[in-house]
Amino acid sequence: MATQNRSYTGTAKALHWAMAIVILTAMAIGAYSGLFLSYGIDAAHDLQKSDTITLHKSIATISLFLIVLRIIWRVTHRPPALTGMSPMMIKAAHAGHHLLYLLMVLVPVVGWAYSSAAGYPIPVAGLFTIPPLLPKSPDLVPYISTVHSVLAYTLLVVIVGHVGFALKHYFIDKDDTLQSMLPGHKQ
Ligand code: HEM
Repeated sequence: MATQNRSYTGTAKALHWAMAIVILTAMAIGAYSGLFLSYGIDAAHDLQKSDTITLHKSIATISLFLIVLRIIWRVTHRPPALTGMSPMMIKAAHAGHHLLYLLMVLVPVVGWAYSSAAGYPIPVAGLFTIPPLLPKSPDLVPYISTVHSVLAYTLLVVIVGHVGFALKHYFIDKDDTLQSMLPGHKQ
């Protein structure tokens, strides 16, 4: 009889945690820039704001590459089955995971469109730039900016829920769902 894997592959774990670090770092820098830095105060503030946005973009664009690898890995490798949950909870967990994937694609792609419409370069990890997704379109910038913010904060809410459920598995259900995504946990 075939045994069911209880752990993710090493590659799936590496992609999961690399994306978690990249997305949360980009989220923190983007939110800091959006909430606390403004243009038009003086030259020093303008420079701080543009440097912060460049850092945000340079880190966030890494997620564009990681999500492509992640989706390829996900469709070619079956993850461990969710156990100890009612069929309805399993459906809800799958829906939550699909929403996470959708937002992990949309947020950086819309960010990419945002900088393209504004006519700014799109750096990746401070190493190279990627071409614009659309031509410079200043009229579109306010709309794309709003969509990027709304999607980014929606992603944050979904991530908080995702972490909450992982902790519920560990502390309340006392199963090994959380450990199955940790290094060292064997299949
Ligand atoms: C992991 C992906 C990303 C996340 C989680 C993310 C998150 C955020 C957040 C939370 C904000 C602040 C929104 C606000 O307060 O209104 C923001 C702003 C921004 N993001 Fe992103 N973003 C991502 C990807 C990108 C990418 C790939 C680009 C462009 C290449 C980009 C460009 C921008 C720009 C230009 C701003 C405006 C910053 C400002 O006006 O201060 N973002 N992002």
